[in-house]
Amino acid sequence: MRKPDISASLHEDLSDAASWVENGFRNISMHKDSISRLPSLALYSLEFGGKRIRPFLVRSACAAVGGHPDTALKAACAVEMIHTYSLIHDDLPAMDDDELRRGKPALHIRSGVKQALLAGDLLLIEAFGELLDTPLGPGRIAQMVKCLARAAGPGYLVGGQYMDMYHSEDAGDDWIRTMVLGKTAAMIRVSLELGALSGGADDDVFEAVAAEGDRLGFLFQLTDDILDICGSAEEMGKEVSKDSRQGKRNIVSMMGFDESITKAENMASEIAGRLIDIRGDWEKVASLALYLPTRRK
Ligand code: IPE
Ligand code: IPE
Ligand code: MG
Ligand code: MG
Ligand code: MG
Repeated sequence: MRKPDISASLHEDLSDAASWVENGFRNISMHKDSISRLPSLALYSLEFGGKRIRPFLVRSACAAVGGHPDTALKAACAVEMIHTYSLIHDDLPAMDDDELRRGKPALHIRSGVKQALLAGDLLLIEAFGELLDTPLGPGRIAQMVKCLARAAGPGYLVGGQYMDMYHSEDAGDDWIRTMVLGKTAAMIRVSLELGALSGGADDDVFEAVAAEGDRLGFLFQLTDDILDICGSAEEMGKEVSKDSRQGKRNIVSMMGFDESITKAENMASEIAGRLIDIRGDWEKVASLALYLPTRRK
């Protein structure tokens, strides 16, 4: 296994990916046929403030297998639109009841609960419309749509969100793992999958990267649960100490704080080590893995 290194340019790469996808949002078609002000409500949540980790992964995975990043732009927009819808709904009073998101009032605080529900619906469906505009052949696009639908569906994102809302009394390690692989990891994994598919990855590379995506997604939620305890609302742009206040079980409450910190560090170097051994240039994605345990936002 080669030794990975946090690349000094990671922060620049993250910020380039953010500008790239935000530029892509200017050309999405949700404004075109609207009979209401919903698109502008959706844009309030979509346009500013996200870290754009998922678009960064889509773009980096495409480049890692030798594709032109712009081939992956519609996929990056689609993933970020679904992620944003999930945040809008996650913050609703009937869900996690959070008022702050991406450093500003959550959409339901700014505009109302019904508006936030519908703006979320809009982003979810429009994401697939965007993905269909990917400049590749119909077979490849169909494969990408299938991956995204699966990641957002009952086996993953929405299924995981359901589990998070209705905790099992005897929630053990397996329960937490399934919940996290669903609610968070699936969208991280599919970011790598769509990037790899748009860059023309071979099947063996695709499989290896997808498996790392699950681990990276678990690590992402682990570091988010750690920051729920020791992060600040100012840096995170969202409320903290939420899970303990709501009595929700998460990875850290299962594992213990000190063990979680060690687990995050170990997972990060293992993921990075495996990534850089995959055919192609996976250094950027490996750098992100190494950065996650150190992040403050
Ligand atoms: C927040 O995701 C929700 C989780 C899965 C923990 P991010 O931390 O990526 O949120 P943004 O997109 O930067 O706002
Ligand atoms: C986020 O989980 C999962 C989704 C939004 C799909 P959390 O509920 O822990 O995320 P935050 O802490 O509100 O960002
Ligand atoms: Mg939640
Ligand atoms: Mg939440
Ligand atoms: Mg959380």
